[in-house]
Amino acid sequence: MCGIVGAIAERNITAILLEGLKRLEYRGYDSAGVAVYTNTDGVQRRRRVGKVSELEAALASDPLVGQLGIAHTRWATHGAPTERNAHPHFSSDTVAVVHNGIIENHEVLRERLKGMGYAFASDTDTEVIAHLLHHHLKTLPDLVDALKATVKELHGAYGLAAIHQAQPDRLVAARSGSPLVIGLGLGENFLASDQLALRQVTDRFMYLEEGDIAQITREKVSIWNSDGQPVQRESVQYHEGAEAADKGEFRHFMLKEIHEQPRVVQRTLEGRLGQEQVLVQAFGPQAAELFAKVRNVQIVACGTSYHAGMVARYWLESLAGIPCQVEVASEFRYRRVVVQPDTLFVSISQSGETADTLAALRNAKELGFLGSLAICNVGISSLVRESDLTLLTQAGPEIGVASTKAFTTQLVALMLLTLSLGQVKGTLEAGVEAELVEELRRLPTRLGEALAMDGTVEKVAQLFAEKHHTLFLGRGAQFPVAMEGALKLKEISYIHAEAYPAGELKHGPLALVDKDMPVVTVAPNNELLEKLKSNLQEVRARGGELIVFADAQAEFRDGPGTHVVAMPHIVDALAPILYTIPLQLLSYYVAVLKGTDVDQPRNLAKSVTVE
Ligand code: F6R
Repeated sequence: MCGIVGAIAERNITAILLEGLKRLEYRGYDSAGVAVYTNTDGVQRRRRVGKVSELEAALASDPLVGQLGIAHTRWATHGAPTERNAHPHFSSDTVAVVHNGIIENHEVLRERLKGMGYAFASDTDTEVIAHLLHHHLKTLPDLVDALKATVKELHGAYGLAAIHQAQPDRLVAARSGSPLVIGLGLGENFLASDQLALRQVTDRFMYLEEGDIAQITREKVSIWNSDGQPVQRESVQYHEGAEAADKGEFRHFMLKEIHEQPRVVQRTLEGRLGQEQVLVQAFGPQAAELFAKVRNVQIVACGTSYHAGMVARYWLESLAGIPCQVEVASEFRYRRVVVQPDTLFVSISQSGETADTLAALRNAKELGFLGSLAICNVGISSLVRESDLTLLTQAGPEIGVASTKAFTTQLVALMLLTLSLGQVKGTLEAGVEAELVEELRRLPTRLGEALAMDGTVEKVAQLFAEKHHTLFLGRGAQFPVAMEGALKLKEISYIHAEAYPAGELKHGPLALVDKDMPVVTVAPNNELLEKLKSNLQEVRARGGELIVFADAQAEFRDGPGTHVVAMPHIVDALAPILYTIPLQLLSYYVAVLKGTDVDQPRNLAKSVTVE
């Protein structure tokens, strides 16, 4: 989604801003812009629709040189993706603003500001912030005072940064609902919506909290909290994840991240497994006490993370005997929810900043849940900060917009949760935990074996290059895996893909099946196998082409119209994690064949910080 970068230094900051924007490209955007305070002409900007490289070319032919500036990548919400709607937005050519989030009362503010004589040059909600700030500067000449007055009038979500021609020694910023981080340098300081954008200039960061307002000069960072009180925020040194910034030997971040899975799954397990048991304290010191009281689990998440939650439902009910409900956050947050007594609220999110998931967590706090647990990949995210318990996945930064390693590490975390709850409550069958702990230890090796099928899956992908529709089938805990496979394919190859529990086939979707609609199936060797085989017969009988990822022991045979890819054998409970791998590879290779933008698919954003 939108990205912000800001800098104040003694050196020319334009290249720093551009590099920061490039590092945020993975979040998805449709235009980019930069505003720089120049000694000769005051605040000047360049904006372009399309990639940051277009902006870079514009700056190469018409450079901006200065020591203070802000920059932005925009993902359109209010107003089309055009140059006039791209940030930074100006007021009276002296105030420049960049903004992530949505200002909900922008129409009212726009009318008021028009009444004061302000002319609008864009269709965005952001422009009202620039004019409002300019308006307050008339009575509050200090930029940070004017910003404090401005944000009091804003309803909605924002992470924003502003500069003012009359005060070229400072950059100001405000956070409410959209993350901002300050990068600390020596005699220079920076700002961004994600610390990845600043990794080339510093490894020391200070995260703004909800309601914070900051003033950043070359030498000093001053912060005020939502009550207007001056506060200190802790600065943290960040060492990890430097490897995320480049693709290494891989053609795309997505392929690199798919191949990282054995390592990041291993990291997610590290320090969390005892000899024969999961270490419940991995969820935090109060986890055992809280888990003992849990009688139900409510999982809330979006997209891929929601699919992880759906798999967990099968695990929690079948292994730990704990009733579990799973819901997409955008639905959960807007309906009247009846909470069963002693229900643990579990949110799952790669970014920890997804607007709907965060809002659902905040609602949950009012609804009488027993407590909240966040399964998240970003330790400094809002979701983690606002939850009672946390289990961090150790996937490292995920750059490809289509989530891959975040999903499998979420599944690992959810298996740890299932075993921990079952252990504390004594509801696991004898031997199950010890067996699964052993199997979890072997999982990275199994994932490596599945990745070794890369070349086979690449060949299978050719069957899809000319197709427009596909069906994904699975039964039991493999149904959400099929859903995730379908989501991956549609996201990055733009082929229409639907997922069904295989038993539902004859209740409708079978009508779609013909030779032009390939049917992908995940078939581990479990008690549903024979039923699944019958479902697949139904497809073959209608001329449908089958691609079956099947356990080598499941006795599926290649034949006309049936392509079987043999999978390494794995204990049934962990099969959803293993079978995800070939589906990720399949969508990747289909997208490569179709020539789509694999890492930044059209219309999508990495971190969905608006509703
Ligand atoms: C799909 C994908 C999205 C995210 C969803 C939730 O590949 O990445 O569906 O899973 O936007 O994001 P997080 O997990 O950050 O809350």
